[in-house]
Amino acid sequence: MSSTTTASTDVTSRGPRRPKRGVPLLEVEGLVITTTGPDGETVRLIDDVSFTVADGEVVGIVGESGSGKSLTMLAVMGLLPVGLEIAHGSIKWRGRDLVALRDREMREIRGREIGMVFQDPMTALNPLRRVGAQLAEAIRLHQPVSRAAARQRVVALLETVGVPDPAKRARAYPHEWSGGMRQRAVIAMAMANDPALVIADEPTTALDVTVQAQVMRTLEAARTELSSALILITHDLALAAQNASRMIIMYSGRIVETGTTREIFLRPTHPYTQGLLRSLLSEGDERAYAIPGNPPSPRSRPAGCPFAPRCEIAKQRAVCTDVRPLLELRPSGSRSACHFPDEIGHDRLVPTAPAAPAGTDVS
Ligand SMILES: Nc1ncnc2c1ncn2[C@@H]1O[C@H](COP(=O)(O)OP(=O)(O)OP(=O)(O)O)[C@@H](O)[C@H]1O
Ligand code: SF4
Ligand SMILES: [Mg+2]
Repeated sequence: MSSTTTASTDVTSRGPRRPKRGVPLLEVEGLVITTTGPDGETVRLIDDVSFTVADGEVVGIVGESGSGKSLTMLAVMGLLPVGLEIAHGSIKWRGRDLVALRDREMREIRGREIGMVFQDPMTALNPLRRVGAQLAEAIRLHQPVSRAAARQRVVALLETVGVPDPAKRARAYPHEWSGGMRQRAVIAMAMANDPALVIADEPTTALDVTVQAQVMRTLEAARTELSSALILITHDLALAAQNASRMIIMYSGRIVETGTTREIFLRPTHPYTQGLLRSLLSEGDERAYAIPGNPPSPRSRPAGCPFAPRCEIAKQRAVCTDVRPLLELRPSGSRSACHFPDEIGHDRLVPTAPAAPAGTDVS
């Protein structure tokens, strides 16, 4: 990052954040999101999800495609697709219930207090408008600053996210930017109003492998500079481990394990987490491991454990297929939803915990 970064210039200054003592930034409690199936039945897409995010914390949400990562976050941002609804639960932002907020109030929080970075930068950028003008608009939407001050802020932001010659590049249209540069512009937009939380949903998945690491570094550097919390949604356990101090592992619309990155890597206490780790650790091997089978659709989720049809230790035990396991605290410190956590063999894992991400505490 440039030494001349000015992400905290006067333009956005709104004084030090004053988190309410003891109140997490974000608290999701018992979230259930439903839709109506083809036969008129109620389908639980997100099934009783609870978690918190503290000020300045980096949390990774990991799981295969369809596990419910995006829907959970769309609910947090008040952006659920039509036809889906929050049937139960609460989503609290600094102790204030977001579910009860009107659209206008939610729009004020979105973009100002919560910034967003999605997989495809073009979902956030208007192809017909210059990048700088869009960034300036994002700033002026939430802050009473002059056009000139907003323009100045745009150049500083673009510099912060590593865009070369930012004053000139700001005048270009999105199609004149490369994919990696566009995603940097989106990160700048997410950071424009000094948000307390950034939600990044697969922010590097659509990018070239070489650009992925640069964009991730940019996101982390901008986040550190603004002391924002980050929720990093990814199917890539390694990416989450490199960046997050805490992880939430989702499967079939539920949380199956949650703990610090170190706890999860040293001793996974759910067979699904173990399977993800085995896949990661055997990547590139001739006999690379893949979890057999596929996740159930939300309509055909077993009554008990959703992982039962793929689980190597279930051994067709009725309790696995019939009784829903609840998240319980394990001796390692993590919490997992499995009836037989003690039967998870760790002999096939190479328990190398990743180095703690910079500036995070995983103890
Ligand atoms: N608009 C919708 N209508 C009905 N079902 C939906 C809708 N959007 C998502 N779903 C279903 O909800 C479940 C969770 O989807 P979600 O998009 O949150 O998964 P994800 O973990 O983000 O997956 P991916 O890694 O592919 O982005 C999936 O079974 C999906 O098919
Ligand atoms: S509850 Fe049973 S099926 Fe589910 S993960 Fe644990 S052992 Fe496997
Ligand atoms: Mg998704």
